[in-house]
Amino acid sequence: MKKILDIISEEVMAAFEAAGYEGELGRVTISNRPDLCEYQCNGAMAGAKKYHKAPIMIANDVAEKLAGSALFSKVDAVAPGFLNLTITDDAVADYIREMRRLSKYGLDEAKEPKTIVIDYGGPNVAKPLHVGHLRSAIIGESIKRICRYMGHKVIGDIHLGDWGLQMGLIITELKERHPELVYFDENYMGEYPEEPPFTISDLEEIYPAASAKSKEDAAYKEKAMEATFKLQSGVRGYRALWQQIIKVSVTDLKKNYANLNVDFDLWKGESDVHDIIPGMVKYMKDGGYAHESEGALVVDVKEETDTKEIPPCMILKSDGASLYNTTDLATIMDRMEHIKPDELIYVVDKRQDLYFEQVFRCARKTKLVSDETVMKFLGFGTMNGKDGKPFKTRAGGVMRLEHLLADINEGMLTKIRENATLSEDEAKKIAKQVALAAVKYGDLSNQASKDYIFDIEKFSSFEGDTGPYILYTIVRIKSILAKYTAAGGDVNAAKIAAPVSASEKALMLEMTKFNAMLEGACEEIAPHRICAYIYDLSNALNRFYHETKILSEEDEEKKAGWIALLALTRDMLETCIDLLGFDAPDKM
Ligand code: ARG
Repeated sequence: MKKILDIISEEVMAAFEAAGYEGELGRVTISNRPDLCEYQCNGAMAGAKKYHKAPIMIANDVAEKLAGSALFSKVDAVAPGFLNLTITDDAVADYIREMRRLSKYGLDEAKEPKTIVIDYGGPNVAKPLHVGHLRSAIIGESIKRICRYMGHKVIGDIHLGDWGLQMGLIITELKERHPELVYFDENYMGEYPEEPPFTISDLEEIYPAASAKSKEDAAYKEKAMEATFKLQSGVRGYRALWQQIIKVSVTDLKKNYANLNVDFDLWKGESDVHDIIPGMVKYMKDGGYAHESEGALVVDVKEETDTKEIPPCMILKSDGASLYNTTDLATIMDRMEHIKPDELIYVVDKRQDLYFEQVFRCARKTKLVSDETVMKFLGFGTMNGKDGKPFKTRAGGVMRLEHLLADINEGMLTKIRENATLSEDEAKKIAKQVALAAVKYGDLSNQASKDYIFDIEKFSSFEGDTGPYILYTIVRIKSILAKYTAAGGDVNAAKIAAPVSASEKALMLEMTKFNAMLEGACEEIAPHRICAYIYDLSNALNRFYHETKILSEEDEEKKAGWIALLALTRDMLETCIDLLGFDAPDKM
């Protein structure tokens, strides 16, 4: 369905042409003076030079041509040469009815659907999730849903950190504590036990302990590096133990991500590309892309236009070991071969932007990707505490994601319990839902690249630009609709009529922006545009609600039309929050 601004622009462009001016001048925008008009066109100002005429004369000419238009109830040419436009009640109601009739509220899906891989989440096996991983999960999940809604084929890949030194550290520590484990018996040839020799809590205690030791004890670190090497070169017992670590850790990660309403199509990790690295290295050497530098293998990626130093991309260290780069490049190669994506999007902390610049340049230079493949780095900013410094626990440590979410759920439960009509089970379920909305909306309503202050009191408020406020609005609509249904009404039976009040028209005008907003959110990979939209839409809905006695309206037809309008608003809000990755309860 055509966007409302295009429909209006076409009408005004035709009027410019009919008055003897270039049509392009007739582009219309939403008014920045909503007190004066709904839409405006500044084309007469731009045309003044070209036609050697005062802008107001041009504006008057165009206004004259628009006089009979069925689209506008008011067209004013005002000094020095603006066209102020107001559309008719029927035109806006027609548009809303069409939105309601069509699927996806009249959104045109992408004409050429792309295959997109989104690399997000990026947790590290056996290391607890912390708040840094929270942003990647929240933003990546939303982008995945938005692009999919636009009609693209989207594959979300978690890209587990499961292959580096942290694995060697854990194995080393396990060996120190339990040298008797069969995994360390080099002569053992049988099957390894099914049961892992540790729990997730053990692992979460072991990793930090090992990591701390390695920082103080050089010999210990040496052992960990050797264990990493043995693991990577395929020593049976080490591989089997590593499988156990992955199994225990992934089970726990799945639970954590499910709590966040985040899910991945692929649970691939760095280790998955281990076997294709030698082939890639050979390809890079044979192609003359990679050369030796101080014993290491590197690809130069600097360009003449660089204003800052871009160091070469290291493919292998001097001891032949692969690096974070190597697995990322091999993963690109793997994705190009098996998924053939048109686009790769990485949702990672923005402090990794130089790193990704190197990786992208290297992938392009070595032709791991085609010239058309788009690679985007969506670097997100830091989540800060109220003191403006990176978010920490009260004791100053790294905040575990699980603990953070448990605290937030607890706080929300206290609030939700104030609604005495809810059972304890209901309250718990709803508190979780509302808490998730608070956290996700609090994050997504900021432009992803910016740092933001994680202010849970503010995010949890039922008023203002927050997730709970949006949910509250949806719940309000649901409760009106439920009452209407209980009294025997059919929510979807009626036709939506032309608006009878300013607040009703304002609500409809807000609704009409949906398709343009969503297209923009997808193109700019910007979930915050959806947040801004549903905040405006909720405000418009609540204003209409406060100014209108809906359920006590005596004119049944009028009432039914309003109910249909509310139901449509609820559907649109629920669609939008689903794209953000959370949902609304029926009561709260
Ligand atoms: N595991 C990494 C970390 O915790 C993030 C992975 C990001 N994705 C990637 N393809 N490199 O920092």
